[in-house]
Amino acid sequence: MSEKQFTVAVVGATGAVGNQMISCLAEREFPVKGIKFLASHRSAGRQLRFKGELIAVEELNESCFEDVDIALFSAGGSTSKNFAPAAAEKGCVVIDNSSQWRMDPEVPLVVPEVNAHAVSQYTKKGIIANPNCSTIQMVVALNPIHKNYGIRRIVVSTYQAVSGTGKKAIDELFDQTRAMINFLNWENRVYPHRIAFNCLPHIDVFLDNGYTKEEMKMVNETRKIFEDDTIGVTVTTVRVPVFYGHSEAINVETKRPVSAAEVRGLLEKEPAVKVMGESGMTNPLQTVSTCGWWLTIFERAQPPMPFRLQRFWQENTYRAYV
Ligand SMILES: NC(=O)c1ccc[n+]([C@@H]2O[C@H](COP(=O)([O-])OP(=O)(O)OC[C@H]3O[C@@H](n4cnc5c(N)ncnc54)[C@H](OP(=O)(O)O)[C@@H]3O)[C@@H](O)[C@H]2O)c1
Repeated sequence: MSEKQFTVAVVGATGAVGNQMISCLAEREFPVKGIKFLASHRSAGRQLRFKGELIAVEELNESCFEDVDIALFSAGGSTSKNFAPAAAEKGCVVIDNSSQWRMDPEVPLVVPEVNAHAVSQYTKKGIIANPNCSTIQMVVALNPIHKNYGIRRIVVSTYQAVSGTGKKAIDELFDQTRAMINFLNWENRVYPHRIAFNCLPHIDVFLDNGYTKEEMKMVNETRKIFEDDTIGVTVTTVRVPVFYGHSEAINVETKRPVSAAEVRGLLEKEPAVKVMGESGMTNPLQTVSTCGWWLTIFERAQPPMPFRLQRFWQENTYRAYV
């Protein structure tokens, strides 16, 4: 019996995420019958390679989705807002990487390792949303703890690579670093301050509550994915001068007492999570060309707070959320 094959459109094919989507489709031998690369008019006609074949990028318009089974959108919120409903209307399953549909109650927000059951709700709008990259890596690690011990509160600080801002930001870190070590002038094109040899303790704009939009995405998306609005989530997001690989330091307070050894035992059973040995420690460079979530569990119980005893250091490979 032959495997079902799909015609796939990659919207934002020339971008940082689109590029990784294309390589993952090829490397994982996804059953592709046909593939379309879509981007803005700026890239129309540019050729991209898929399994050795050069394919011309087309300018995105609504008619591009005729006969497409799956559309992977990764071209910003406004592009998703304008084109995802039209694609879905043509019978295409849209998987959207932007923040546009994540909190829409009629759109499931899915991390396959955590809430694959939610996918079935995609029929309401024909769209499946993919969370923020920092949310994904955190919920994958915390899901087994939440299921077994109940999470009351999460305190997380992120150390996010420039890849999260897209291709222009990757170029900016490279250009500024090269300029600085050669005593040349540098400029800020993507970030408001220099990112080379610096850290920027805010990602996206500040909201009225004093948190940034990126921080509130992690709060709201975590609650939606865990289907639990009672979880307290405190987030500090920081952009760091790393090309690829987000890291997070996570402190978790559980409803029922849990030891670090129990958490280690639980997470070691998770196929997607690689738990480092007791003295092991990950870093973004080590994990960048792999695909998965790397976790270090610090065995630091805090005796006065028996329910608040884990601290994680977690690495997310760029490809893991693609
Ligand atoms: N980067 C990440 O790590 C990451 C992670 C999760 C989610 N996301 C989300 O994924 C999306 C893309 O991110 P990225 O990092 O890949 O950005 P990027 O490197 O800047 O790429 C943007 C892509 O969108 C296309 N595009 C822009 N405006 C368009 C329009 N009006 N019509 C059609 N295509 C258009 C661009 O095409 P041209 O080449 O023609 O300009 C390019 O292919 C964003 O919504 C982002 O929030 C990114």
